[in-house]
Amino acid sequence: MEIGAVLGATMTEYTATLVAMAVGLMVLLVAYLYEPYWKVRHVPGPRTLPLIGHLHLIAKQGPDLFSVLAREHGPVFRFHMGRQPLIIVADAELCKEAGVKKFKSIPNRSIPSPIANSPIHQKGLFFTRGSRWTAMRNMIISIYQPSHLASLIPTMESCIERAAKNLDVKDELTFSELSLSLVTDVIGQAAFGTDFGLSKVPVSPDDVKTAADTGVDQAKTSSEFIKMHVHATTSLKMDLSGSFSILVGLLLPFLQEPFRQVLKRIPGMGDYKIDRVNNALRTQMDKIVAEREAAMEHGLATPQRKKDFLSVLLTARESNKSSRELLTPDYVSALTYEHLLAGSATTSFTLSTVLYLVAKHPAVEEKLLREIDGFGPRDRVPTADDLQTKFPYLDQVVKESMRFYMVSPLVARETYEQVEIGGYTLPKGTWVWLAPGVLAKDPKNFPKPEVFRPERFDPNGEEEKKRHPYAFIPFGIGPRACIGQKFSIQEIKLSVIHLYRHYVFRHSPSMESPLEFQFSIVNNFKNGVKLQVIKRNNA
Ligand code: HEM
Repeated sequence: MEIGAVLGATMTEYTATLVAMAVGLMVLLVAYLYEPYWKVRHVPGPRTLPLIGHLHLIAKQGPDLFSVLAREHGPVFRFHMGRQPLIIVADAELCKEAGVKKFKSIPNRSIPSPIANSPIHQKGLFFTRGSRWTAMRNMIISIYQPSHLASLIPTMESCIERAAKNLDVKDELTFSELSLSLVTDVIGQAAFGTDFGLSKVPVSPDDVKTAADTGVDQAKTSSEFIKMHVHATTSLKMDLSGSFSILVGLLLPFLQEPFRQVLKRIPGMGDYKIDRVNNALRTQMDKIVAEREAAMEHGLATPQRKKDFLSVLLTARESNKSSRELLTPDYVSALTYEHLLAGSATTSFTLSTVLYLVAKHPAVEEKLLREIDGFGPRDRVPTADDLQTKFPYLDQVVKESMRFYMVSPLVARETYEQVEIGGYTLPKGTWVWLAPGVLAKDPKNFPKPEVFRPERFDPNGEEEKKRHPYAFIPFGIGPRACIGQKFSIQEIKLSVIHLYRHYVFRHSPSMESPLEFQFSIVNNFKNGVKLQVIKRNNA
């Protein structure tokens, strides 16, 4: 009897301890989940669901959601990516405040969980922070001087010409695929001084053999890397469709790394694929950098090669001791790779949307063709100066296409210290994301935003004159804005001019209407831009 009583008491104590521990753990978990929200709870936003926050809304509504939320909650509102709250800024003047005026308080990009464990991504300019970022940016900006960009025109033009040959052998194609190959070839030349040959047409079996002999197989592998990386990194999923560990990371960040460690060993899992790609790519980048370093040391790098980003970076590194300390080989690899990644998907998306939209608007096409034909004979390659001064309508068409389908509708930042934006005090470490995509569809900035009308960017027009100077920011804003803006605009304009001198395009009947997108932090097409190619009579 006594033993029974003792056992009973022990069991009760044991159960009570277990319950207390369970309750304690629950309290800790709830505190962990709500801590980031608590700090910014004063910022308005829609009702959040436990764990997933607002991810279900974006999965349902896509990127237009942010315009809807801005209308409902005002220009500064809260959006929860799982546990992580984002403070979205959706007003031109407030974007200026966050991106320019208060840059010192908001100088860095927030680091999304998929990137957190990848040195090849973290050591590029995009995610580097503080004084290292300032020093690297200052060094790299010198590579993008107008004279250097102008010197890339012949390389760009020859890649474009070669890629366009595909249009002579096909009446119909997924143009977005060709354009990704083209811009990757251009970046391959500009960043590595290497011809990937991705957009080359292998017209005969002999050509296929020659291509394989000259390393195109290797380039095709690079192309696979690029595609996978575009998917794995720039496509930080904003909905619930990421890899399993990314998904876990959105809900319970502390579990992401242990999950990743396990899942990367299981073939077939998204994490397995990402890990393999990361390792292979890092090895390849390191090899390219080591080979180029050795070639430069032995004076073997050709003058042509010396113009590429990697060579210029390596030359700059040798200029003094602090540069050598700054640009260790791992940073050089990361910076070079970043060019490949940041420059390919964004530029190719934009070029594809230009063709898609022009094909849909005959009056725009007619005006554009008039301007392009008026420039002169078809073999006259425009200079950098011509591109700026002789093609005003093309400039408007490109801008309006970027407004209509913005490739980076959100720009990610993080506060470095407590700061006030739009009347809300935001503590250190808050993720502040600017929303150029919302500004681009706001009738206050762009009347009738659903209409494609390049003339709204006419510098002499009333609409352009009245618009807030920061209402159109597809390349971001302030000191952290895109470093490749002029490079990509030059490439897009040269491509459009070359293509429309020889062809016009129509939508393929096999393409969906309206065009569907895969929404992530960088926009992409769901099924591609499929076009019919019509050779122009005079071509
Ligand atoms: C149409 C093409 C492109 C678009 C729309 C685009 C857009 C952007 C945007 C929105 C940002 C963030 C800016 C901010 O936080 O304020 C960015 C940053 C960046 N972009 Fe681009 N980009 C394009 C092409 C390129 C190209 C061709 C390159 C390289 C050759 C490049 C390299 C970079 C780098 C390195 C950064 C980070 C800059 C830093 O943090 O200092 N981009 N881009």
